[in-house]
Amino acid sequence: MSREHDQQGAGNDPMLLDHNYDGIQEFDNPTPGWWHVIFIGSVIFAILYVQVYMFGPGSSEQDKYNIEVAQHYERLFADVGDLEPNEETILRIMHEDDLQRFMPVAEAIFTSKCAACHGALGQGGTGPNMTDDAYLHVKNLEDIGTVILEGARAGAMPAWEKRLHPNQITLLAAYVAKLRGTNVPGKMKEGEVPAPWPEYEPAGN
Ligand code: HEC
Repeated sequence: MSREHDQQGAGNDPMLLDHNYDGIQEFDNPTPGWWHVIFIGSVIFAILYVQVYMFGPGSSEQDKYNIEVAQHYERLFADVGDLEPNEETILRIMHEDDLQRFMPVAEAIFTSKCAACHGALGQGGTGPNMTDDAYLHVKNLEDIGTVILEGARAGAMPAWEKRLHPNQITLLAAYVAKLRGTNVPGKMKEGEVPAPWPEYEPAGN
């Protein structure tokens, strides 16, 4: 085959590239349509995947943790319903036998969220001692719940309303109320001594 002939051939066949090295020529086969579809499709999929699974809502480790915790408490509290931090409910949690199973839960929350400021046993530190009988902000059981929910002294005592399950707040209120009078040596008494917590009268008696 002559060189000229080959080049002519290249001109005629759109698949054949122009260059010709001692009779060796090259086809220019375009990649097939389906290949483009898969290639561009994977690029788009990768971008969407990263957006949704790495940056989308509910996808950070923190979000996943929060969801797990919420589900855990949903299961844990399934049979008790909502526990409002009112006097009756707090007394019930403090005294009723079948609610005592929640005390270790309250203690665990106290250890992880409150002990840093109030001491492992509630003996005080940055925050006041809760094992004596004097309080800065508490005149009755409900006030304990209110302080935990809303915080005090411009955030020196943080507000926990948005960070804990409402039932957790009520359990903590009962736990803190029970610390009264355990008199663990620690921070000195602060504030006033309110009336003793009311007696528990089980409903229906
Ligand atoms: C960052 C430190 C800090 C953490 C964490 C903290 N508190 Fe406090 N807490 C304080 C301080 C400080 C006060 C006293 C505020 C004041 O002086 O007015 C206080 C006050 C209180 C009071 C009122 C005591 C009184 O004498 O009236 C209660 C009840 C209480 N905290 C419960 C809790 C519980 C329950 C938790 C955990 C969910 C918690 N605190 C976590 C710092 C903290």
